[in-house]
Amino acid sequence: MLYSLTSILVFLYFTPDFGTGNSVFHKFEKFENSQLDPSLSYKSVEWNADFDYVPSLYVCLTVCDKEEGCRAVDYDTSNKKCNLKRAFYGIVSSGPQKQVYAKVHKVTEFKLYENSEEAPDFPLESLIFNSTFLNGTTLEYCQQMCNIDTLCKAISFYSSTNICYFKSNFMGKVESPGCSLYVKKEISYQYRLFEDSIPIPSLPFTSIKWASSSRKVENVESCLLQCNEDIICKAIEFNVESMVCNLKSGFFGKNFSSGHNTYVKLEKDLKYNLYDNSIVKDDIPFTPSVWQLSNQKVPDISICLDICNRYGECKAIVYDSETLLCSLKSAYSGKKYKAGHRLIVKAQKIQNFQFIENSAMVPNNPYGSFIWGQHFKNVTNVEECLEVCSTEVLCRAFEFRKAEKICFLKKIYAGKTNSMAFDIYFKFEADENRCD
Ligand SMILES: *[C@@H]1O[C@H](CO)[C@@H](O)[C@H](O)[C@H]1NC(C)=O
Ligand SMILES: *[C@@H]1O[C@H](CO)[C@@H](O)[C@H](O)[C@H]1NC(C)=O
Ligand SMILES: *[C@@H]1O[C@H](CO)[C@@H](O)[C@H](O)[C@H]1NC(C)=O
Ligand SMILES: *[C@@H]1O[C@H](CO)[C@@H](O)[C@H](O)[C@H]1NC(C)=O
Repeated sequence: MLYSLTSILVFLYFTPDFGTGNSVFHKFEKFENSQLDPSLSYKSVEWNADFDYVPSLYVCLTVCDKEEGCRAVDYDTSNKKCNLKRAFYGIVSSGPQKQVYAKVHKVTEFKLYENSEEAPDFPLESLIFNSTFLNGTTLEYCQQMCNIDTLCKAISFYSSTNICYFKSNFMGKVESPGCSLYVKKEISYQYRLFEDSIPIPSLPFTSIKWASSSRKVENVESCLLQCNEDIICKAIEFNVESMVCNLKSGFFGKNFSSGHNTYVKLEKDLKYNLYDNSIVKDDIPFTPSVWQLSNQKVPDISICLDICNRYGECKAIVYDSETLLCSLKSAYSGKKYKAGHRLIVKAQKIQNFQFIENSAMVPNNPYGSFIWGQHFKNVTNVEECLEVCSTEVLCRAFEFRKAEKICFLKKIYAGKTNSMAFDIYFKFEADENRCD
């Protein structure tokens, strides 16, 4: 077993919570009289640029906070210039008018395998060092670099030469005297259990490790572990008598089936929607700096997702299972049929919305959604509006017409008037004091 399973929490009931009142702010760490070094600019979706003149630090931090791809800001207090950055690796001292704010990263724990090397080898070229290894470094520094890079999954460190290699994956190890392999402890997912159920429709997922979508296992934990280790796995179906574990790439509902249990992954961080046999309707390619092209042949779809995960600007991927071509997209505007292709769209986390009952908005500032192609839509429930408005940075609020279930998207929330027919939802803005 590769990882010890720290916790599999089982939920019998699960209610989505679109909280009101919690701050959406990430924690930022502040560095006075400093600027970032080296500099990796991040282009804001909202500004369509990597910097802007903004009247206050608050605006600068708010933009960085909202956009997943922004990791830090350089703020120049005298020129009111806000520079957005894609990574935070280090700072250098600068004039008194300069400040750096970096989003605080969760510290990753590493699992150590002594006298071991990764097998097979998945080298990772670090964006910042333009290299797959660091020479003359320390273990602590190398772990820090791996920690802040989401694509880095492991490192191997030779203490005799102080050389550290970055790895993009971990599938197993081989003995190697003098080398220590450190593997990031994977996130333990939480699952929701449906007893006596099978998922419908069934979307089998072939794991690279098993080379199949099902296998007889010793216990349900082995099945869940397998699902944990793969981002594409969204659910499992477990036959309690035959102990056969079936991996699924999607969950769209369940049906009664005695002797089967379904476990559905509750996503913590990035959430994706998967469309089989589909491609993006209007092609808007995205070129990551590691590739210099918007597409590349990769052996597995999870590598394609990893690359997309690394960039906030990447919104979707298309994977051709025959040519193994991974194409990155900077927008999702709808899908169309294409056999043998898988479209995976990054779903933004549902943001915090304030809810005001029995009110309509004044003034009316419609926002045309690029997903809907218009500013309003008949929906089946309010969660659809919450999801679309969360996905699009420029959508700040919406009005929900209760009786007909029509959702009207808005650019701003500026005021309200009483109306029994409508409810208002607007994105919660944190107060300025939380920045530092
Ligand atoms: C890595 O490559 C990028 C793009 O070519 C360049 O801007 C950057 O300075 C390089 N970094 C180092 C440490 O050489
Ligand atoms: C690491 O640096 C040492 C000393 O500068 C050098 O002799 C060695 O060849 C380097 N190793 C690699 C793999 O670059
Ligand atoms: C659910 O199970 C019932 C009974 O076996 C079956 O008739 C029905 O078609 C199933 N529904 C779906 C959507 O598979
Ligand atoms: C929304 O649904 C109503 C019926 O509930 C229908 O009359 C109306 O035309 C629909 N509007 C749109 C934009 O589809």
